[in-house]
Formats: sequence, C-alpha cells, structure tokens
Amino acid sequence: MELNLITKVVPYLLGVLMASFSSAISDPTDNFLQCLSQDPNATYSDFVFTPKDTEYSSVLESTIINLRFSTSTTPKPLAIITPLTYSHIQSTILCLKHFKIQIRIRSGGHDYAGLSYTSSDQSSFVVLDLKELRSITIESGQNTAWVESGATVGELYYWVSQESQNLGFPAGICPTVGVGGHISGGGFGTMVRKYGLAADNVIDARIIDANGRVLDRKSMGEDLFWAIRGGGGGSFGVVVASKVNLVYVPEKVTVFSLSKTLEQGGSSLFNRWQYIGHKLSPDLFIRVIIQPTLNETGNRTIQVIFNSLFLGNVDKLIETVTDSFPELGLQEKDCSEMSWIESILYFDNYPKGESIDVLRDRKPEPKVYFNAKSDYVTEPIPEEKLEEIWKWCLEGDNPILILEPHGGKMDEIEETRIPYPHRKGYLYNIQYFEKWEDESSESSEQCISWMRKIYENMTPYVAKNPRAAYVNYRDLDLGENDNADNTSYLNAMKWGKKYFGDNFRRLAMVKGVVDPDNFFFFEQSIPPLIMSEENSDIGSYQSL
Ligand SMILES: Cc1cc2nc3c(=O)[nH]c(=O)nc-3n(C[C@H](O)[C@H](O)[C@H](O)COP(=O)(O)OP(=O)(O)OC[C@H]3O[C@@H](n4cnc5c(N)ncnc54)[C@H](O)[C@@H]3O)c2cc1C
Ligand SMILES: *[C@@H]1O[C@H](CO)[C@@H](O)[C@H](O)[C@H]1NC(C)=O
Ligand SMILES: *[C@@H]1O[C@H](CO)[C@@H](O)[C@H](O)[C@H]1NC(C)=O
Ligand SMILES: *[C@@H]1O[C@H](CO)[C@@H](O)[C@H](O)[C@H]1NC(C)=O
Ligand SMILES: *[C@@H]1O[C@H](CO)[C@@H](O)[C@H](O)[C@H]1NC(C)=O
Repeated sequence: MELNLITKVVPYLLGVLMASFSSAISDPTDNFLQCLSQDPNATYSDFVFTPKDTEYSSVLESTIINLRFSTSTTPKPLAIITPLTYSHIQSTILCLKHFKIQIRIRSGGHDYAGLSYTSSDQSSFVVLDLKELRSITIESGQNTAWVESGATVGELYYWVSQESQNLGFPAGICPTVGVGGHISGGGFGTMVRKYGLAADNVIDARIIDANGRVLDRKSMGEDLFWAIRGGGGGSFGVVVASKVNLVYVPEKVTVFSLSKTLEQGGSSLFNRWQYIGHKLSPDLFIRVIIQPTLNETGNRTIQVIFNSLFLGNVDKLIETVTDSFPELGLQEKDCSEMSWIESILYFDNYPKGESIDVLRDRKPEPKVYFNAKSDYVTEPIPEEKLEEIWKWCLEGDNPILILEPHGGKMDEIEETRIPYPHRKGYLYNIQYFEKWEDESSESSEQCISWMRKIYENMTPYVAKNPRAAYVNYRDLDLGENDNADNTSYLNAMKWGKKYFGDNFRRLAMVKGVVDPDNFFFFEQSIPPLIMSEENSDIGSYQSL
C-alpha cells in the first residue's frame, strides 16, 4: 500500500504542480487548496477546514488546552487538515512545500507553547491534525502494539488493559496527551523507574518525510529512527504510527497520596525524599507535589504531597516503605489496591469507581491559562535552603511544583541511546506550573513574572552546564529560532543543549540529512547542521 502511494500520488501531484500552479493565482490559501484538490482520491470537504467553514473554530479549538494560545490575537492557520489516509498527508506536505507555506503538526494538542497549532512569527501556516488517525492494534502473543499518533495515551492504556490485566505501557500521567507528540519528546509517568520513557519502548515507527515518502524503521534508517524517539516533535517529519513494546504489570497495584504541611514536618520528609526517591525499588514511584494550601487555622502554608504507585500489593508496599522510607509513616489505611488501569484514573483525579470507559471518551481536558518550566536536580538541595523555596512558593498565586524521581531503569539506559539525555546521576526533575482562570493581562503577567523569578532563584540548586530542561515541557523563554531560511545551529544550542545535552549535535546532523531545506521549521525545531567543507570544524563548538 505504501509503495502504491509513492508511485501513484507523488508523481501525479508533482506533475499537476508543475503544469498548473507555477504561474497560477496568488492567494496562498487558494493555491494550496487547489493543489490539494488535485488528489483524485480525496473528498476534500471531509478533511479540509478553512475559516469559511463553520466547523473551523471547533476543530481548531478541540484539543487546545492552554487558553493563552487561543485568544483573538493568536495567529490562526490558513486551514486545518485532518487526514483520513496517508495520501492526504503526502499531498498536504507536497502542496505546502511547493507554495512555501509552513506546517504545524498536531496529535493531542498538549504542547505547552501551543506550537502544534499556532505560530509566533507572522508567516502563514497550516495545521495538520492527526486526530482521525488513531487506530490501535495489539499484536496478541507478542506483547507489542501499533498505535497511530492521533490516539491519546489513555486510549492506548485502555486497549492494552483489555488485552490482558498483566499488560501495561509506561507513558505519561495525563490520559489525554497525544501519542504523537508525547513519544516524540520522551514521555514519562508512574512506571518510569521500572521501564523508562515511552520513547525507550518504541521498536518501530512509520513517518512521512519532507518528500512525502512513507518510511518505516528499516527504510528510514537508524539515525532518523533514533531522532524521532525523544528529539522533540515536529522537526523531522510526520510520525504517523509507532510500534511499542508492552510491559508486565501485576494484577494488583497499590496507590497512595500522603499530604504533610510544613507544620506537620513536610520539609524534612521532603529532604529525606531527595536522598532516596531515586534509589527506592524500581517498583515504587513516589512523586512529590508542592503547593500552597490553607491550614486548619486558615493560614496559608505549604503542603508536600507524596503521590505514589507501587507495582505490587499493599503488604509488599508497606514492607518496602518501612524498609526504605520509614520516616513517611505510611499505614495500610493510606493505601488502595486496584488494577493498573484503575491507577490511571486515580492519578488523573477521577473519583473512585469511575468507569475506565472514560479513557476512550477523548473528553477534552479542562481549558486553562497556564505557564510552565522545568529543571533537573543532580544533588539534593541543602535542607537549610528549602525554607527559601517554600517562601517563593507562597509568593505565587496558584503555583504547583511537581517533582518526579528518576533512577531505576533511567540509570541503566545510556545517555546516547535515544535523544533524551537526563539519565544516570539525575535525581529528579522539577516542573514549575502555574495556571490562572481569567484572560486579564494582569493575571498572566503576574504568573509569568513569578515563574521567571523562581526559575532565576533556583539556579544554584539545579543541574548546570548546561541547565537541563524537558522538551515535552516546552519553554520558549529558553530561546527560539529566528526564521526558516536562517536557522543557526549555534544560536539554537542555547536551548538545544538544555533539552538534549550532547545529543543535540547528532539531532542537528540527522535534520541536515533528512530535511536540509528545513521544511519542518518552527520556533524550536532542530536546525539542520549540514557537514560541508566550510563548517566541518563546527565540531569544535560542541562544548559551548
Ligand atoms: C495536562 C498535561 C499533562 C501532561 N502530563 C505529562 C506527563 O505526565 N508526562 C510527560 O512526559 N508529559 C506530560 N505532558 C507533556 C506532553 O507529553 C507534551 O506536551 C507532548 O508533547 C504532548 O503531545 P501531544 O501530541 O498532545 O501534543 P501536540 O501539541 O499535538 O504536539 C507537541 C509537539 O509535537 C509535535 N507533534 C505532534 N504530533 C506529531 C507527529 N505525529 N509527528 C511529528 N511531530 C508531532 C507538534 O508539532 C508539537 O511540536 C503533559 C502536558 C499537559 C498539557
Ligand atoms: C483511493 O482510495 C481507495 C479507497 O479508500 C483505496 O483503496 C486506494 O488505494 C486509493 N488510491 C490511492 C492512489 O490512494
Ligand atoms: C497554620 O499555619 C501557621 C502559619 O504558617 C502556623 O503558624 C500554624 O502553626 C499552623 N497551624 C496549624 C494547626 O497547623
Ligand atoms: C493566622 O491567621 C490568623 C487569623 O486569620 C491571623 O490572625 C494570624 O496572624 C495568622 N498567623 C500567621 C503566622 O500568619
Ligand atoms: C542570520 O541570523 C544571524 C543571527 O542568528 C544574524 O546575525 C545574521 O545576520 C542572519 N543572516 C541573514 C542572512 O539573515
């Protein structure tokens, strides 16, 4: 089927482009739409939405979570394409390329900076939204699954759990995250210490490249296959599907969520967690959520929540915690046993007893205005400095710090195996997150300036040279490309090194081979590094 598409559609389109469009109409949308409509097999109205269509806004807004990028002044796409077949993607790529219109690829729309559906420069762009390509095929007996990028991780979890109560998949905590973007940037959740990242568990993929070719692992080659497992979405092509390894989960897992305010000793417990959270049994994942709260006397204080999944029953959990983290004082009454799939709902704050069918609903996430940043910690923050951090948190309106332990499997995987580099030696990551409910610029400025300040204040306590960040928590404050015709590798190192460490250079070289003309460009796309005579010494900048 794939060969069919390449041999029929691609030359056909190119022929049409050459014959009828080189001197045609000048409106970019009309040009593009006419080009698309040349695909003999496409019933155009089924998958193309322009501002003239009544559904345009609802399709555009359907998966937008961050309202900051959904205002009347947010740049909007010329069209949204929701391909029903690979050939629709191929013709979209070829037509956009011909008319030099930018593409934004969207799977689940959770990008923190809205980069899958908007553009901060003023150039025109089209959104390619994969929501209709979301089939999931479990390969029974092989413990693998092919999942299309437009599926959510919740749908994947659901179908995996239907196959066997002993199968799971290690990916993010939020079930509405799209498989396409999530795997592209790594993807971690409650089983990260046992099985690594979602991207660590990908064994094959299908991508459509800048020339409209459909490639699998074998035909794309190991360099490109490496790059699309954690190198950040959107830079190399449209990933249409991934083949993943499913992992073993026990029939019963145990969860708990234990909250301690500062007055209840939250600070010293947190300090203890810094030393052992990454060293616990890989079956035990305890993340920490830090947020202001009101205590019994109505005073604002900090609450430290220990939020945990254990891959085993409650007796074994109590035994493990008593052994390795007795200070927590965990008791059986704090814990609940459930199936792994029920734990997905627990972590997404569904009430007890909610049907797992909600994972198939593709129910949109509540929309909010939010801003986030990330850091990694390689040495415990000195206990006497924690007081300052609590004070900074109390200065925010509605801040949340989420700290997720690494260690376990993460320590075993080499830094270069996939682009995600934060492995051995990284204790935990920090996500600073703040949301607000109203559109006023006052709220947004207040939150954004609080965030920038705490990020600045945290400098001495987090990974340095480079300071590290997680590409799936995309942050444009780290730096941006200027434009597609002049993307400088050296300029991009500022943020590229933070996300990818020394893997950034290899990502840029892969980009130079697979997309030298930089068709897949956006604010933080990987710049092409093309090894020619003049710049082959660029390696000497590697340690910048
Ligand atoms: C509420 C919430 C909770 C989250 N929880 C977690 C978590 O627990 N763990 C975690 O690791 N992350 C988490 N994330 C971050 C999430 O993993 C990233 O935002 C991820 O990139 C989202 O993927 P998406 O497909 O939904 O996003 P999109 O916005 O569709 O895409 C994100 C980026 O990938 C590109 N892209 C999307 N699809 C493709 C494709 N098919 N081919 C090529 N490029 C593509 C886009 O162009 C964009 O640059 C969370 C985010 C939110 C908003
Ligand atoms: C056209 O669509 C039909 C039915 O969906 C499909 O079988 C056929 O392969 C398609 N042809 C091309 C060239 O895409
Ligand atoms: C509530 O918080 C205030 C201020 O942090 C503190 O002084 C007081 O002891 C706390 N009261 C309780 C009951 O925890
Ligand atoms: C706690 O709240 C009470 C009543 O709101 C107030 O009088 C008191 O000063 C507060 N204490 C602290 C330590 O903030
Ligand atoms: C390319 O960008 C760099 C800075 O990133 C700038 O100094 C240079 O002038 C630009 N060149 C062109 C041709 O725009």
